[in-house]
Amino acid sequence: MEQFDGLCVQDCERCPELVDSRSRIVNGVGPEDADLLFVGEGPGKNEDEQGEPFVGRSGTVLDDALSEAGVLREEVRITNCVRCRPPENRDPTKEELANCRGYLDSEIAAVEPVVVVTLGKVPSEHLLERSVGITGEAGDIVETRFGERSQRVLLSVHPAATLYDRSQRETFFETIAEAVDLTGLGGGGNGQSRLGDY
Ligand code: URA
Repeated sequence: MEQFDGLCVQDCERCPELVDSRSRIVNGVGPEDADLLFVGEGPGKNEDEQGEPFVGRSGTVLDDALSEAGVLREEVRITNCVRCRPPENRDPTKEELANCRGYLDSEIAAVEPVVVVTLGKVPSEHLLERSVGITGEAGDIVETRFGERSQRVLLSVHPAATLYDRSQRETFFETIAEAVDLTGLGGGGNGQSRLGDY
């Protein structure tokens, strides 16, 4: 039996392997009218345990980049392409992505963010419905149609990429700062320089 309120899935059994591997469904978090909506790939071990997206090492990188751009995690919405942890952290299959797509589309339509930021190759390709060379395209803004709505999508490398390739860190932090600039959040500078103004 599926139960979905337009933002959160309470019950779903569409993907048998994910039903077996998950300990819970991990829904998006953050304001229902957030200007910035981050979309990751799917929950990992920490997310599955805690029931919240991006709470492991990748989440710390995301939080740091947001903080440097002058924004708190609580001010943005964070969700994933699939809401259940794939076994052994494998990529979600095309079928699993398709099974969960309606939930993601509804969430985007309900939140109506100024910008959707895709974190990594999987969400970028999934939302743009084309292949993406994420290292080359990170920082690009693509205007996409989701149903009736036109949506601005900003492509980003995955925060985990910064953990094994230091050069990706700058790209990631710059993209997050760009996302914050596009929304006018963050007061136009990082927290430090704002403090320095006083
Ligand atoms: N990586 C993702 O893509 N999503 C999460 O929620 C955590 C790590």
